[in-house]
Amino acid sequence: MPTAKKPRPSIQDVARLAGVSLGTVSNVLNNPDRVRAETVLRVTKAIEQLGFVRNDAARQLKAGRSKTLGMVVLDIANPFFSVLARGAEDAAAQEGYSIILGNSSDDLRRESRYVSLFDEQRVGGIIISPVDAATETVATLRARGTNVVVVDRHIDAAIGCSISVDDFAGGRLAAEHLLSLGRKKLLFVGGPLDFQQVADRLAGATQAVKTFEGTATIEHFKTTALSVLAGREVGDKIAALPKSEWPDAIFAANDLLAVGLLQAFMFKSQVQVPGDIAVIGYDDIAFAEAAIVPLSSIRQPAALLGSTAVELLVEEIESASSHKHRQITYQPELVVRASTSN
Ligand code: RIB
Repeated sequence: MPTAKKPRPSIQDVARLAGVSLGTVSNVLNNPDRVRAETVLRVTKAIEQLGFVRNDAARQLKAGRSKTLGMVVLDIANPFFSVLARGAEDAAAQEGYSIILGNSSDDLRRESRYVSLFDEQRVGGIIISPVDAATETVATLRARGTNVVVVDRHIDAAIGCSISVDDFAGGRLAAEHLLSLGRKKLLFVGGPLDFQQVADRLAGATQAVKTFEGTATIEHFKTTALSVLAGREVGDKIAALPKSEWPDAIFAANDLLAVGLLQAFMFKSQVQVPGDIAVIGYDDIAFAEAAIVPLSSIRQPAALLGSTAVELLVEEIESASSHKHRQITYQPELVVRASTSN
């Protein structure tokens, strides 16, 4: 029979064991410099002996404002989001805040569960890289008085702050780079297109091909995921085609897809990169440079996206009366490596 769990020691238990008042224990916890050293020592010993852990959530609620932020990212397995979350966490620590991180895995129900959890915990605010347009989510949270900032997606200033990268410009950069190599049969690999980031990248690449002063085409190979496995599956299908049907350049919607394509080409087929097919990705995660063929990519300032989101959220929490919602859009950067070097 499992033994009944002992109740957590309370602040009353600490006061009783140390032989002091509740107020003295509270002072030792919150303002130890106001308490005689001997008393601090006595209370500290009682806390350690009992294994007392303060209920910071209740304390912060009493103070009216939590120093904890909630953060939900689309896919924590994607290094782009782990670097973004790290940038946010470093900025939060500098401002005296902590972050509780959740992963939606591109699933709206999981995202909603985390948003509800953070709201019930009365966090100071929420940062979200949303599965969808996020308009409804943000409006609902605001209506409940919850501060929220959207990252990796652009939203209307009327409903809140957002920090993102100009993915249309990024897509155009990628395609223009491939065209500059003399490649003429481009293939965009990525999806689903209800990810605005992916749709914008394709749109930018399509515009580059349309305005190209020469003959070039761009096709779209839709995927249901933005993962290494999805990239490998597409790579296998392309490699199985007759060589005459291969594209001569691939723009992958993100680096994970591109890494999967490289694995399929280099390990399981005769496709040479960049000789037969030049490949460029998006994000410039650490695996891009370390890939079997160092991968060209369109760099997003992931850590900066995260730290900027925290700065805007903390400003909204601490200076609500003067805060003005704004949209911050960073520009992407072309990084050229072996996978597109003629
Ligand atoms: O979540 C899919 C992609 O969107 C990531 O790789 C990153 O590019 C984000 O903007």
